[in-house]
Amino acid sequence: MNNERYNRVMVALHWLLALGLIAQFGLGLWMEEIPKDPPGVRAFWFNLHKSIGLLLTLFVLWRMGWRVTHAVPADVPNTPDWQAKLSKAVHGLMYLLMLLIPVTGFLGSSFSPYPVKFFGFALPRLWEAQPELKEALAEVHENTAWILAALVALHLLAVVWHTVVKKDGLLNRMRWGS
Ligand code: HEM
Ligand code: HEM
Repeated sequence: MNNERYNRVMVALHWLLALGLIAQFGLGLWMEEIPKDPPGVRAFWFNLHKSIGLLLTLFVLWRMGWRVTHAVPADVPNTPDWQAKLSKAVHGLMYLLMLLIPVTGFLGSSFSPYPVKFFGFALPRLWEAQPELKEALAEVHENTAWILAALVALHLLAVVWHTVVKKDGLLNRMRWGS
């Protein structure tokens, strides 16, 4: 059942989301610093952040759907049990956060007085604006984004360790091409 490497769709989605999520994280932090005056500039970047975030959510759902319906490579040979378990736990948590972050972003925005726009197209309002809920969800959105950033740092450390110390070709499993 297990292939040696991730298939093309998984590889493409992994890199598209890696780039997209890192850019989206940077954009989120940066846009918070934009002054409210002159009006419009801050709103433009917030709307862009929401639109890109919603688009990325579609790719996250595609990736998760693909992941559960297709085989993935077996553990790297001779992986100690605790490492196999840790890597599965971190991957699972990253998937959960890739979903939780945009969901809390969207829900928080849906409680703000402004409509959520998807590349200029206003989505229907779900409920009345509620500033307390908006604030609470923005808080969760921010914290979950930071937790994902920490897990990605751990993920990168693991990749560097496999590549530089163990030299077991782990990165090839996620490489584009044959
Ligand atoms: C936002 C950034 C990233 C996220 C959210 C992320 C997430 C993930 C997830 C969830 C998996 C597990 C795939 C699965 O089995 O379904 C994975 C695998 C992998 N990622 Fe990332 N990744 C990111 C960035 C990177 C970067 C920058 C690198 C390399 C420098 C990298 C290298 C790999 C490799 C080599 C695997 C395969 C691991 C294995 O075969 O066990 N990732 N990544
Ligand atoms: C897809 C992945 C996403 C990532 C990685 C991400 C990341 C971030 C980050 C790092 C911030 C700055 C947090 C802070 O310092 O307070 C932020 C703020 C924000 N994000 Fe996202 N975001 C994503 C998706 C979304 C989506 C889909 C929406 C809405 C449809 C959204 C709406 C917002 C809003 C409204 C803020 C400002 C919160 C506030 O302070 O009121 N985000 N995001």
